[in-house]
Amino acid sequence: MEPVLPPIGMLAELTHRCPLQCAYCSNPVELLKANREMDTGGWISLFEQAADLGVLQVHLSGGEPTLRTDLVELVRCLAQRGVYTNLITAGVGIAEGRIEALAEAGLDHIQLSFQGAFATTTEKIGNARGAHEKKIETARRVRATGLPLTINAPIHRHNMNEVPDFIDLALDLGAERLEIANVQYAGWALLNRDALMPQRAAVERQVLIVEEAQERLRGIMTIDFVTPDYFAIYPKPCMGGWARDAFMVAPDGTVLPCHAAATIKTLQFERFGDRPLSEIWHDSAAFKAFRGTDWMQEPCRSCERKEIDWGGCRCQAMAIAGDAAASDPACIKSPFHDRMGALIDQATGKKSSDGTFAYRRIGRMSEPMV
Ligand code: SF4
Ligand code: FES
Repeated sequence: MEPVLPPIGMLAELTHRCPLQCAYCSNPVELLKANREMDTGGWISLFEQAADLGVLQVHLSGGEPTLRTDLVELVRCLAQRGVYTNLITAGVGIAEGRIEALAEAGLDHIQLSFQGAFATTTEKIGNARGAHEKKIETARRVRATGLPLTINAPIHRHNMNEVPDFIDLALDLGAERLEIANVQYAGWALLNRDALMPQRAAVERQVLIVEEAQERLRGIMTIDFVTPDYFAIYPKPCMGGWARDAFMVAPDGTVLPCHAAATIKTLQFERFGDRPLSEIWHDSAAFKAFRGTDWMQEPCRSCERKEIDWGGCRCQAMAIAGDAAASDPACIKSPFHDRMGALIDQATGKKSSDGTFAYRRIGRMSEPMV
C-alpha cells in the first residue's frame, strides 16, 4: 500500500438550501435543513485544519453557498491561509455589494451555473421564475469586480440542443471558461434519470459541436467538456480516485470521499469535530475502503488503466452493479456495461419521460430506486 498523500482539494457544501429546484442536482435526495448546518466556528476550524493538512483549493458550494450569511468571513479565513477559493453559485438573489465584499475578502474565482441558454429553459429546469435574468446580472457584477468567471452548463436531454447557445452566452458574458458538463446520475439526477437521459444522436452531435468550438475559440475561451458516462467506453477517475487528493464535506460537517458516498450503505462516515480532519483523511474506514488499487476485483485488478481511472466511480458501481467494489459499469470491460445501454434505451424510449421532473426539495426522505 502506497503512503497516503495529503489532499489538495476540498468541496465544502456549506448548505443544502437553494432558491432553485434543479432536477439534475447531485445533492443527496435526503437534504439537510438549515438547523443541521455546521456553524461559522465549525467551518473556520475545519478550514484551518484543511490548510494545515495541505489543502490548496476549496470549492464553496451547496445548495446555494451565498445563502450563508457568514460567507465573507469564511472566504477571508481561507484567503488568509493562502488557500485558493472558488465559489460555485446559481447566481440568484445575491444581495447588492456581496460579490464586491467577497472579492475584497480574497475570493479567487466564481463559477456560475446556467440551467439553460434561454430564460424559458432556465426557468423550467430550475423551477424558478426570473432566474435567468438574475444570473445574467450576477455575471455582469462578477465581471465588474474583475474576478475570473466560469459559466457552468449542466447538460441533459432538455438543454443539449442549446450547446451552441451556451457557447454564445458564455462569450457574451465575458467568461474565461465554459464547462459543458453532462450530468452525472447521482442524487436527484439519479431520481430523474429517465427524464434527463439524452438521445444517442444528440450526444454525438454535441461532441462534434464542442470539439469544433474548442478549436475555434482557442486562446479566447476555454471549453471544458465533462463527457456523459452512460455513453462512454471508459470511465472517468471520479474525484481523481477515491480518497486520493480530494474530499467533500456535507453541510453538517460529515466528511465524505465524494458527493454520493452515502449511497454506499456499508460505509460509515465521520463528522468533523468528533475527530480531527487529518485523522479522518488518513484513518477513517470509509476513506480507506477504496483508496489505491488493493480493493479492486477483476477486470480492474489486472487492467493497464487502473491507475488512470482508479476503477471509475464507486457510487455508479453501487447504483448499477449493486457492488461498490465492482468496475464502474461505464467501462466496456465491465460485465455490467450493457446495463448502461439498456438504461439509455429504457429512458429514451419512454413517452412519459419528456419533462416530468421530481424537483429538488428539502423534505423528501428516500433515495431513488435503480
Ligand atoms: Fe478502468 Fe477498471 Fe475499466 Fe480498467 S477495467 S478501464 S481500471 S474501470
Ligand atoms: Fe462517489 Fe463517484 S460519486 S465515487
